[in-house]
Amino acid sequence: MSQTTAQSIQELTNTALTELAEIDAPEALEQWRVSWLGRRGGLTAILRGLSQLALEQRRELGALGNQAKTTLEENLERRAREISQARLARAADQERIDVTLPGRPVATGRLHPTTQVVREITDAFVAMGFSVVEGPEVEWDYYNFERLNIPQGHPARDMWNTLWVDYVNEAGQQPMLLRTHTSPMQARVMEQTSPPVRVVVPGKCYRYEATDATHEWHFYQVEGLAVDAGITFADLKGTLYEFARRLFGAERKVRFRCDYFPFVEPGVDMSIDCFACQGTTKDNGGSGNSSDNGGGCRICRDSGWIEIMGAGMVHPQVLAGVGYDPEQYTGFAFGLGPERIAMLKYGIDDIRHFYSNDLRFLRQF
Ligand code: DAH
Repeated sequence: MSQTTAQSIQELTNTALTELAEIDAPEALEQWRVSWLGRRGGLTAILRGLSQLALEQRRELGALGNQAKTTLEENLERRAREISQARLARAADQERIDVTLPGRPVATGRLHPTTQVVREITDAFVAMGFSVVEGPEVEWDYYNFERLNIPQGHPARDMWNTLWVDYVNEAGQQPMLLRTHTSPMQARVMEQTSPPVRVVVPGKCYRYEATDATHEWHFYQVEGLAVDAGITFADLKGTLYEFARRLFGAERKVRFRCDYFPFVEPGVDMSIDCFACQGTTKDNGGSGNSSDNGGGCRICRDSGWIEIMGAGMVHPQVLAGVGYDPEQYTGFAFGLGPERIAMLKYGIDDIRHFYSNDLRFLRQF
């Protein structure tokens, strides 16, 4: 081993410090410590070499050696601090939170357009004293047809393309179906209560239907029923007129024309004057025919009128069927399609949009 001198101590110190300055990983720091300050490290070897020197030299170089040791230890500590601070700074840089950024919006859902319109419709009737009730979607023939004055074999059954439930009773009949309208709730409600009755019934209906822009095999209806002593056709007109004004604007006019539904007499269909063209295209020869749409009003097809629901005075047979005395009580009923109302209100041109689950459509409402 070479002689320990003041110079060799100085050189060793310089080399060690130069090496230290280049280290930037904690693992490499530990290696550095072992190789310079460890039991077999460079400085330790030098200090050990002192024992062979004369006392005077030993004292002098020993002091230098100890000073070198302190210098190396202090520098090691400082470098370790620098490295860990640099690490923290890098991590903080990556995870930095900018508190001035706007928050991420919480993804809330929204009500389906049908639900919105159903609520608008029922709200209008609730404001006029009606209650809201709901009924079963799987229904008996008895309520869907029989109680509504539509017996087995009656040609009016063809008005409702029916989805029958695959269940046969002892008599060999298929008495169960998916309700084709909400009207079966008329009898169900009247069986449970005595007059006065004022209800609206929103709910899903089903029909064996080839789908197109205006037909779906499943859709909603809102049924209405009011029965009491002394109810007249004037009550029907007044109530439905008020409803139309609430949904389509206070300036609306309504029109009633004869129509046939077996459970009402007389039966009507109700139209409102066209809120899009205000009836101004009426004289363009509009026939209400949907195929001809040559630049006129696409809402009323130049007829000036839009049909929005069926209605009528409850048939005496229907009242008698639930045990109400038709001599004492009269009433009116109506049924409307919320999707149709929504299509009119929002200018939707295809009913199939409602249940195709396309968010681009649904988010517009
Ligand atoms: N249930 C009828 C349908 O689905 C609509 C209807 C018409 C309901 C006249 C009524 C009514 O209550 O009085 O076509």
